[in-house]
Amino acid sequence: MSTKHKILELLEKNRGHHLSGEEIAKQLEISRSAVWKNIKLLEKDGYYIKAVTNQGYSLTDDNNILSVQGILPYLSNENFSKKIHIFHSLESTNKTAKEMAINGHEHGTVIISDSQTSGKGRYGRTFYSPSGSGLYMSFILRAEYLNLPTVPLITSATAVAVCRAIESVTGKEPKIKWVNDIVLENKKICGILTEAMSNFESGTIDWIIIGIGVNIDTNDFPDELKGIAGSLFSSVSEGTIRNRLAAEITNILLSSNDWLDNPQVYTEYKSRQLLFGKKITVIQQNETYEALALDLDEMCNLIVKKEDGTVVALSTGEVSIKNFNA
Ligand code: BTN
Repeated sequence: MSTKHKILELLEKNRGHHLSGEEIAKQLEISRSAVWKNIKLLEKDGYYIKAVTNQGYSLTDDNNILSVQGILPYLSNENFSKKIHIFHSLESTNKTAKEMAINGHEHGTVIISDSQTSGKGRYGRTFYSPSGSGLYMSFILRAEYLNLPTVPLITSATAVAVCRAIESVTGKEPKIKWVNDIVLENKKICGILTEAMSNFESGTIDWIIIGIGVNIDTNDFPDELKGIAGSLFSSVSEGTIRNRLAAEITNILLSSNDWLDNPQVYTEYKSRQLLFGKKITVIQQNETYEALALDLDEMCNLIVKKEDGTVVALSTGEVSIKNFNA
């Protein structure tokens, strides 16, 4: 790790407290002028560092730069930090994750980007991913570490994991709109895109990429998203939130496969659903129809009643609700 990053790690671990140049120099076994030089480099990277005579340096609360050092204090296992790769800007974290999976990166590799120039949504849509206000992350999961029969539930289990992470970091209680939208105050604040790569010869799945995009304090949505998309916070959030949320999602997804296999996941997925009893529009490949959302089956398929009275289970597709309160 570079000296600059070692200093950043110390400052992130001691947010809100001053560390004297002497203390930093002693801990890292470097000179005080090297400390000063590297503080200047961090400032050049965009960090606000308060320097107070006789007290030292501290990171101010408004620093919201994503970094491994910023995520580290909130990780349940320090080793996870070795699997985290952070970028300033990427086309799409899912795209980079796929390339890294092909190049042999290990199970549990996490790719995070401050912004995406071509964030991917479901059905070929784009995912609005401006810099500084959202969390865009992808996980590489290798199939040999997963219990394959549970793989169809991976998107639902991820939605539950993200809701839990949001709740533990912010205290807010998001809901899930089948299949994979996370909703707060009737606006979509997070989307999940799961992609699998199968082995052509054996027909088995090699790895799975889970992409998660959370609007944290994004408030300048393009016109077509206004009214549909929302954010966790309506004004600028506290500086550590992005790093803390990235850490908490990583903690849940990498700590064990419990988040995927546990029957509690199904119960929680169901209890967070906001579609039941609502009139919805079902958009399938070949047809669009109105229906009443009734329930979920044990594979998280949505059970709906069509207008002609037939009841069907939807395993995929898209549903829209005209009025959340109807
Ligand atoms: C959707 O709601 O349609 C899914 C959106 C998924 C967006 C995330 S952002 C991180 C990851 N990288 C991408 O390109 N897409 C996913």
